[in-house]
Amino acid sequence: MIVLGLESSCDETACAIVEDGRIVRSDVVASQNEVHARYGGVVPELASRAHILNVVPVVQAALERAELSLGDVDGIAVTNAPGLVGALLVGLQTAKALAWVTGKPLVGVHHLEGHLTAIHLEPEPPPFPHLALIVSGGHTSLVRVDGHGKVAELGSTRDDAAGEAFDKGAKLLGLGYPGGAVIDRLAKRGNPKAVPFPRSMTGGEHGADFSFSGLKTALLHHVREHGVPDDQPLADLCASYQAAIVEVLVRKTRRAARRLQLHHVQICGGVAANSGLRDAMVAAGEEDDFRVYVPPISRCTDNAAMIAAAGYHRLARGEHDGLDLDAVPSMPLARSHP
Ligand code: KG4
Ligand code: ZN
Repeated sequence: MIVLGLESSCDETACAIVEDGRIVRSDVVASQNEVHARYGGVVPELASRAHILNVVPVVQAALERAELSLGDVDGIAVTNAPGLVGALLVGLQTAKALAWVTGKPLVGVHHLEGHLTAIHLEPEPPPFPHLALIVSGGHTSLVRVDGHGKVAELGSTRDDAAGEAFDKGAKLLGLGYPGGAVIDRLAKRGNPKAVPFPRSMTGGEHGADFSFSGLKTALLHHVREHGVPDDQPLADLCASYQAAIVEVLVRKTRRAARRLQLHHVQICGGVAANSGLRDAMVAAGEEDDFRVYVPPISRCTDNAAMIAAAGYHRLARGEHDGLDLDAVPSMPLARSHP
């Protein structure tokens, strides 16, 4: 089954073609980083306009690279929630038009279900059930994954997402947008113990919930008092800031894996690209006897291959949506709590 996937929930316009939910025939991403960089964050109106410019060329490129025509496609998958509504609508409306002209089924995909499915495009995906840490620009959640489309949320952030903490920290330090990758790079040559940033909500009473807004405020106070450094002190500051985020993420994941006796853990979403997080989670897994799975960096950040794959699994279950499918800016991935 050939599924064409579309993703436009934030600042990437992406189209990919995936066969049987596993084989990526093409994977095209048009990034808007340059559009938003000077604002230090995504400007929703500009994102919608850039999606409009990019969406058709990206679909054409995905078909060309896969050496397929629209008639070869068996289903159209599209992110319909959550995200910036004006951005979602561009992908959604394009997907509806494609479904209508081809007569093929349309499936809406929850963006986080897409992130959870990225690892299933790899040769050795984690077996079910497994634990997943979803860390992106908009979300930070720990979920137990029992199957495709079957998840139970264990906890999530009460305020900022981990990626938001990276981006807002980078903005404060004048490092541009998106800031996660820049902090990651600088942190590699810095001392993570240089500045003692807080590790919020790590007590057992907070369960699997997270909070990162206090850390951002701590960085703001530090910068107000000491100014923004450069060279080695800047690297030390980045390493300390990153270590505070990573330590909380790893501690909570470890505790949940132990409590639920899960021996397979995946990390997904843009922050899963962070080298400090990847290394620390693998080290924790070696100590606590769980295996860590992380997609390649290009499939941690937003892409449409993960959406096509998640759409395939919905179609394979016999599910699809009507042409009245709505774009929903905010929607929980799962409501149940084990
Ligand atoms: O999943 P994603 O592409 O978009 C959302 O669904 O939000 O995640 C984007 C986030 C941004 O906050 C970006 O700064 C962060 O992922 N990110 C990183 C790294 N690469 C991207 N954060 C930390 N370290 C990285 N290497
Ligand atoms: Zn994402």
